[in-house]
Amino acid sequence: MSVHSHIITANATSEGEDLMSGDARAHAYRNVIITAATAGLAGLLFGYDTGVIAGALLQITPDFGLGSFESGLVVGAVPLGAVLGAWIASSRSDKYGRRTLILTSGIIFIIGAIVAAISPGTWVLVASRVVIGVAIGVASAVAPVYISEIAPPDIRGRLVTFFQLAVTIGILVAYLVGLAFADSNEGWRWMLGLGAVPALALVIGIIRLPSSPRWLLMVGREDDAREALQRVRTEGPEAIELEIKEIESSMSIHEGSWRDLLAPAVKAALVVGIGLAILQQITGINTVIYYAPTIIQETGIDSDASSILASLGVGIVNVLMTVVALRLLDTRGRREMLFVGVSGISISLFILGLAFLIGADSTFATVMAIGSLMLFVSSFAISLGPIFWLLNAEIYPLSVRSKAASAGTMTNWFFNFLVSLTFLPLIDLLSQTGAFWFYGAIGLVTLWFCWKYVPETKGRSLEQINDIFERRAR
Ligand code: BGC
Repeated sequence: MSVHSHIITANATSEGEDLMSGDARAHAYRNVIITAATAGLAGLLFGYDTGVIAGALLQITPDFGLGSFESGLVVGAVPLGAVLGAWIASSRSDKYGRRTLILTSGIIFIIGAIVAAISPGTWVLVASRVVIGVAIGVASAVAPVYISEIAPPDIRGRLVTFFQLAVTIGILVAYLVGLAFADSNEGWRWMLGLGAVPALALVIGIIRLPSSPRWLLMVGREDDAREALQRVRTEGPEAIELEIKEIESSMSIHEGSWRDLLAPAVKAALVVGIGLAILQQITGINTVIYYAPTIIQETGIDSDASSILASLGVGIVNVLMTVVALRLLDTRGRREMLFVGVSGISISLFILGLAFLIGADSTFATVMAIGSLMLFVSSFAISLGPIFWLLNAEIYPLSVRSKAASAGTMTNWFFNFLVSLTFLPLIDLLSQTGAFWFYGAIGLVTLWFCWKYVPETKGRSLEQINDIFERRAR
């Protein structure tokens, strides 16, 4: 038992459950925030890679003489690797624990980033990007689950959103790194290699964190689970014993199999998780994240500088509005945020389509396009962005949580890949206006889906959330 938990236990035992000393309380509160923020760094890997590749590719293409198929491979290798990584996480996360997997993904990412930076030709580059993708897939399947399992229910929304916040910061930092090396000879090597820095921060940080108490109980290590909970709870020992009992009574089986995903209550939860995984992507967020400068240029702004500035604006708004989400998710609730955000997504996509209809060379259309892009990103950042990752980590029963969360993560990465692949052909087929109106219409479907299927999970323990789906399945 750590010195710290001795202090908490001693205090709590002598003073009664709810009279834990102010110091110990503050210490445990700080611990849970630091733990969640450190694990959330996993999102940096994902965000950094998402934001860096467009700029890097501009230089890699002439350096390696890539055709469009090879360019597609260099980009698509990461989301495809991530599908594989999320699948690997599905079983390994129960076997080796969440923390070990996050640590491993950090190490794999460092290796991938370094090999990518020094790769002599296309095939090494593609292979290293598959490796990076595997690391990102593992991290994105496991980190939100880990955070949700250590978080107290009343601030779980905020803590899991650290992961999404890190994604957005990663994207922004990558835009800046891309700008810094835009004119350097072989600057792409720096752009890709510097990804190793956040990965190193993750590896160093995660070593000191406790394991997930829920995972520890799942593998029968009750004493370690108690100790882990003491590090991240402000309540005294009686409340911790109660929490342990609640977790244990929700564990009907220890490690569920893939077949257990077909149990009615799990199926009901999967509808929500998989549904949001798809809708988060097919409302088109990454068309903006990947192609913002192109979209803006097509509305009539010629200069590279202004369009790059506008995409930096997108990156900054994305971070800032995620901070807003962080503050509101546990007070306003998941459903309200989804209704507001997804309505904003649809409205802004319709306006963006309209801006293209009005046409280039009109200042009014350009202002409309930039304004609607900002509204779109803000709306995503307070809704589908954080809430998919949050719900995907909190709605499944412990016995199948890592498999089900991985299924959601795999789906999300697969559709990420599909949307980036089909965006340009979709424009050829429907024109810009048609393409954005198409995404806007999917936004309306998303609104209906959220209203019909997404339950409010604010303030409930993970075990109480299971009860919602048990009731639904009856
Ligand atoms: C999505 C990513 C997206 C990012 C943008 C994440 O929640 O999964 O695909 O690039 O948000 O902030």
